[in-house]
Amino acid sequence: MTRIITALDFPTGADALALLDRFDEPVYAKIGMELFYSEGPSIIKAVKERGHEIFLDLKLHDIPNTVKSAMKRLAALDVDMVNVHAAGGKKMMAAAIEGLEEGSAGKGRRPLCIAVTQLTSTGQEMLEQELCIQGNLADVAAHYAKMAKEAGLDGVVCSVHEAKKIHELCGEDFLTITPGIRPAGTSQDDQVRIATPAYAKEQGSNYIVVGRPITKADDPAAAYKAIAADLL
Ligand code: C5P
Repeated sequence: MTRIITALDFPTGADALALLDRFDEPVYAKIGMELFYSEGPSIIKAVKERGHEIFLDLKLHDIPNTVKSAMKRLAALDVDMVNVHAAGGKKMMAAAIEGLEEGSAGKGRRPLCIAVTQLTSTGQEMLEQELCIQGNLADVAAHYAKMAKEAGLDGVVCSVHEAKKIHELCGEDFLTITPGIRPAGTSQDDQVRIATPAYAKEQGSNYIVVGRPITKADDPAAAYKAIAADLL
C-alpha cells in the first residue's frame, strides 16, 4: 500500500491548522523544522487532537547520546514517524531507536524512524569535493540505506526512482518515503526528478510526500482525494 504524507510547509500553526481543517478525513501530516521551531510541541498536540498522524521531520544528526535523549523527548510527543541523517553513523541511528523505545515505554509501539541518505541538494560534485566522499552518489545512498537497516531503522527517504533498488537491497518491509511527487498536469515547482503518484506506487514507494500540489491547490481536499484515487 502507498500512503500520502501531506507536507505542512507553513510558517505558522494557524496556517497549518487552517489547511488541515479543510479536510474531512484524517491525513498523515509532515511537520518540518520551520513549523516546529516556530510553534514547538503545541503544534503536535493540536494536529494530534484533530486525529491526524504526524511525521516530525527534524533530521537529527548529533552524537549518539544527544540523539538518544532528543528522541526520548520526541517519542513522548506521540508522533508517528521521525528521522535522522544516516551520516551520523550506525551508533547514532541505533541510539535514536533506543531513545524512541525508552520514550514510548508502556505505549505499545514506538514512532517509526527513517533515515535521510543524501539530501537531494547534494550532487555528485558536492559529494566528492565538499563532503570528500568518493563514489557514485546512488551507490553512496544505497550504502547509507543498508547502514540504516543494520542499525535497526525502519526505512529511508529516497527518490521514487531509487525505491525499487532500496527494497531489493534492504527488503520489502524496509520503508521507502518518497518526495518529489507531482500529479500529471501540476506545477513542477523547484523539484527536479519528479514522479506521478501512480508511478510511485508502481515502484513500491510506501509513503509519498506531497506538499504544494495539495497545499497550494484551490481545493486541497479535492487535490488530496485525486491523488488518493491514483494510488488505488
Ligand atoms: O511541495 P513539495 O511537494 O515539493 O514538498 C515536498 C516536501 O518534501 C517538502 O517538505 C520538502 O522539504 C520534502 N523533501 C523533499 N526532498 C527530499 C527530502 C524532503 O522534497 N529529498
